[in-house]
Amino acid sequence: MHEVALGIDIGGSGIKAALVDVVTGTLVTDRVRLATPQPSTPAAVAATVAEVCDMVRASAPDLEPRAAGATFPAVVRDGVTLSAANVDSAWIGEHAQERLGQALDTRVLLLNDADAAGLAEVGFGVARDVPGVVLVLTLGTGIGSALFNDGELVPNTELGHLSFAGHDSVEDWASDRARRAEGLSWKRFARRLDAYLQHLERLFSPALMVLGGGVSKRFEDKIAERLKVETPVKAAALRNEAGIVGAAWYASLRG
Ligand code: BGC
Repeated sequence: MHEVALGIDIGGSGIKAALVDVVTGTLVTDRVRLATPQPSTPAAVAATVAEVCDMVRASAPDLEPRAAGATFPAVVRDGVTLSAANVDSAWIGEHAQERLGQALDTRVLLLNDADAAGLAEVGFGVARDVPGVVLVLTLGTGIGSALFNDGELVPNTELGHLSFAGHDSVEDWASDRARRAEGLSWKRFARRLDAYLQHLERLFSPALMVLGGGVSKRFEDKIAERLKVETPVKAAALRNEAGIVGAAWYASLRG
């Protein structure tokens, strides 16, 4: 018998969900994805989330999730979204957790997307049982961060918004979006990433850094050997399921 929770991953371009076995951290249904509506206003996003979740539930009518969790690409405190770097600004100050709960007619626990991805790595991935400080970074449209000490999350660290290398937000310089927009070679991109990781190393002295998001697919062949940072760096294990798994696990622990 599975212990199942619903995991929802809300991003700037896609909204994904699946049912997750929260003991093993694996998906027990297919992942359903719909494009994020544009503009990504709270009402439009909540309606798409409901649609995605209906599709997931319809694909496994016999599985009853005992909790539901959702990620959001912004600061989330007490269910309220407090920033909106890559989504519609109407989310700032929105009671997002409540709105999603109403749309799904169930209690939903909301957390930052990188925090969810980090939890998935700590629970089921490369950071499992790693003592001390672990820093998980997601490199995609933006840069998300999740900071742990002995497996305990310090939420909403927002290290992608550190001012660095002459940029107000380092994510404008070292995210996957920046790499693509500027047509950077992997060599140049790895050099930027390395400078940023060395900066984070000086600030946090972590035992391990984990890289997730789009870039993690190319970590082994294009990035790893070019990094000079002393902290061990690993690619995330859960890849594009990390948000869904992390959200479901978080909700099952807190729900
Ligand atoms: C947001 C973070 C988010 C990250 C990755 C940043 O721009 O401020 O909250 O975790 O993008 O989506």
